[in-house]
Amino acid sequence: MSTTAAKRPKDSLTEMTQILLPGDANALGAAFGGSVMGWIDICAAVCAQRHARQTVVTASMDDLHFHAPIKVGMAVTLRARVIAAFTTSMEIGVTVHSENPVTGERQLTTSALLTFVALDKDGKKLAVPPLEFDTDEERAAADDARDRRTERLARKDRGARWLALVLQADRGR
Ligand SMILES: CC(C)(COP(=O)(O)OP(=O)(O)OC[C@H]1O[C@@H](n2cnc3c(N)ncnc32)[C@H](O)[C@@H]1OP(=O)(O)O)[C@@H](O)C(=O)NCCC(=O)NCCS
Repeated sequence: MSTTAAKRPKDSLTEMTQILLPGDANALGAAFGGSVMGWIDICAAVCAQRHARQTVVTASMDDLHFHAPIKVGMAVTLRARVIAAFTTSMEIGVTVHSENPVTGERQLTTSALLTFVALDKDGKKLAVPPLEFDTDEERAAADDARDRRTERLARKDRGARWLALVLQADRGR
């Protein structure tokens, strides 16, 4: 395990901009959710790597909400921020806004939380730097993230039951 000095959320803030092209759209001329999820994963991964300065892998993506559609031709801006750093994992929050390139009108379209784990080249988990807070709001958000982590891991355990059921059914085919 490696340990390093604490870092602030602002040290790893990450922004990424795309244009929604027809190849990433559904039959309604709005973003295909899978493309947006892919962009969210990349933006969050860069943020997590900036915090850890290690290679990271996605452990989970949750609290994913599509608040509004993104129409073809819109500029799409993703912003990722470290919400909490645990031992080897980090929770990253991502927002996605669409921007009308002509009027400049912006709208929140998507938000998500992702957890990344830092690994060395042999796949061994590595400690990540702790998070240092500038504001009470950042500290409160990290406290919430700690609760979410507990719920998430409990959900993963509970999920083992439906997974076992499906895998068993698959073996019978
Ligand atoms: C993610 C992964 C490293 C977790 O390994 P593991 O041995 O199951 O994990 P552990 O139980 O030892 O937990 C390690 C850390 O991951 C966290 N974690 C594990 N599963 C998690 C999940 N589903 N969601 C959120 N966090 C999770 C744990 O809380 C722990 O964090 P901490 O050290 O900060 O407390 C492993 O499952 C893996 O490599 N998965 C594939 C990753 C991948 O290919 N991603 C897509 C492409 S990048």
